[in-house]
Amino acid sequence: MADFGMGAALFQLESVTRCYGARCAVSGVTFDLRRGETLALVGPSGAGKSTLLRLLNFLEAPSSGVLHFEGRPIDPLASSDLPTRRRVTTVFQRPALLRQSARENVAYGLRLRGLDNALARADAALERVGLLARAGDAAHTLSGGEAQRVALARALVIEPDVLLLDEPTANLDPANVRLIEAATLAERRARGLTCVWVTHNLAQARRVADRVGLMLDGELVELAAADHFFDAPTDPRAAAYVIGERLA
Ligand SMILES: Nc1ncnc2c1ncn2[C@@H]1O[C@H](COP(=O)(O)OP(=O)(O)OP(=O)(O)O)[C@@H](O)[C@H]1O
Ligand SMILES: [Mg+2]
Repeated sequence: MADFGMGAALFQLESVTRCYGARCAVSGVTFDLRRGETLALVGPSGAGKSTLLRLLNFLEAPSSGVLHFEGRPIDPLASSDLPTRRRVTTVFQRPALLRQSARENVAYGLRLRGLDNALARADAALERVGLLARAGDAAHTLSGGEAQRVALARALVIEPDVLLLDEPTANLDPANVRLIEAATLAERRARGLTCVWVTHNLAQARRVADRVGLMLDGELVELAAADHFFDAPTDPRAAAYVIGERLA
């Protein structure tokens, strides 16, 4: 891959905790997210993966601890931090598309940012996910897999620094899974995109990730290079998880 200043810490989390009342969805999470890497986050339902992604997308603030992006804290509410917040975006499991054409859905975020050539850029992004031929079709007439590819194009078209993916291929057929993985990988190669990819599919984590993290009950209990995570995890709970034992 080309050198995009890869490897330096883009996010730094120190003891990040997010509680709702007495219950903490994320507890004392500490790690660096390196520029250009893809980190897969795995763990049982309710472990706090989506909450961690919302923190990384500045959609909510930690209850305690420190979350730095490029060396400084970002305020989810401050308008002065909006340009920085917009460098991170999320693809969710269920795409929420506007009842407009695929092209208009992808162009929307560009218009919001006042960027030129929105429709031409939208078409280029749709081509990257194999959907240029459907650009004029109403989003609600697309299949689930096609709609998710539009959601990915909508995320990629703004050229984010960080793409967060929250189970983006759950319930998709293998061909759509492959297209989504390939389009994301192409963006990593072309631009050094940094990704955090939440998945329940361990084979997918192996395919896409440089490092894999296991969350259990709000804590990040293992974080290791993908080979290491699957073949020789340090924490016995990670060893149990990868062979399918129920942990929570
Ligand atoms: N806004 C909220 N208010 C109260 N509790 C919340 C809120 N968001 C998340 N939680 C709780 O925090 C815990 C972690 O939820 P989260 O959605 O982050 O888990 P997850 O790992 O993404 O699970 P899944 O694999 O099912 O998507 C859950 O117990 C959930 O009920
Ligand atoms: Mg979730």
